Amino acid sequence: MKDKPQYIAFEGIDGAGKTTQAKLFQSFLASINIKSLLTKEPGGTPVGIKIKEILLENKVYKETELLLFLADRSQHIREVVKPNIEKNFIVVSDRSLYSTIAYQGFGKGIDVKFLHKLSSFTNNKLFPQLVFLIDMQPEVCVMRCKKRDKEKSESISFLKKVREGYLKLSEKKTFFIVDGQKDIATLHEDIVKIWNKL
Ligand SMILES: Nc1ncnc2c1ncn2[C@@H]1O[C@H](COP(=O)(O)OP(=O)(O)OP(=O)(O)O)[C@@H](O)[C@H]1O
Ligand SMILES: [Mg+2]
Repeated sequence: MKDKPQYIAFEGIDGAGKTTQAKLFQSFLASINIKSLLTKEPGGTPVGIKIKEILLENKVYKETELLLFLADRSQHIREVVKPNIEKNFIVVSDRSLYSTIAYQGFGKGIDVKFLHKLSSFTNNKLFPQLVFLIDMQPEVCVMRCKKRDKEKSESISFLKKVREGYLKLSEKKTFFIVDGQKDIATLHEDIVKIWNKL
C-alpha cells in the first residue's frame, strides 16, 4: 500500500469503457481491503450534478463549456478528492483534468498550454498520480454509445482528434495505456497487473 498512487484516473474517449473499468478497479481495491472511493467528473458533487445538467440540456459555446467543466472540477477536487486523500483513501476517478486537455484542447482547439495553466489553478496542485488510458477506436466507441442511447453522441472525426490528444498526453510517466478492444474481464486483469507492479 505504501507509496502506491492515491489519486487514480480513468481516461479515454466516449464509450471506451472508463466507467466499467473504474467500477471494477474500485471493487478490486475493496476486495483486498484497501480503503477507496469511486468518483467521477463531471457530476461528482451536488454542484457538479447541476453543472452537468446545464451541459446536457443546453447548447453552449466551447469557452462556456470549458469554464463549466473547470467549475465542476474545482468543486470536485476540494470537496471529494482532497479530503479523501487526506483520510488515506485511494480516490478512483472516472475522468480528470486530462479529459479537458484532450476534448477542449486537442478536440476543440483551445490552446493546450493555456489549459494546463488553468488546470493548475483548478486542481490546486492535486493531479492524478496514475492514469489508465483506455485506448479504443472511435468507430467502435460510437457504435457502443449508439447502442446505449447516449444523450449526446460525438462524431467519429472529433473523437479521432481527442484520441490523438490522449495518446500525446500518454507520454507522461503517470500514464498507462490499456487496450480497450479486449473484453471487460481481460482488460480489468491488465489494469490489476499494472497496479500490482507499481
Ligand atoms: N471491453 C469492453 N468490451 C465490450 N464492451 C464494453 C467494454 N467495456 C465497456 N463496454 C460496454 O460499452 C459501453 C460503454 O462502456 P462505459 O460506459 O464503461 O464507457 P465510458 O468510457 O464510461 O463511456 P462514457 O465516456 O460515455 O461515459 C457499455 O455498454 C459497456 O457495457
Ligand atoms: Mg462513463
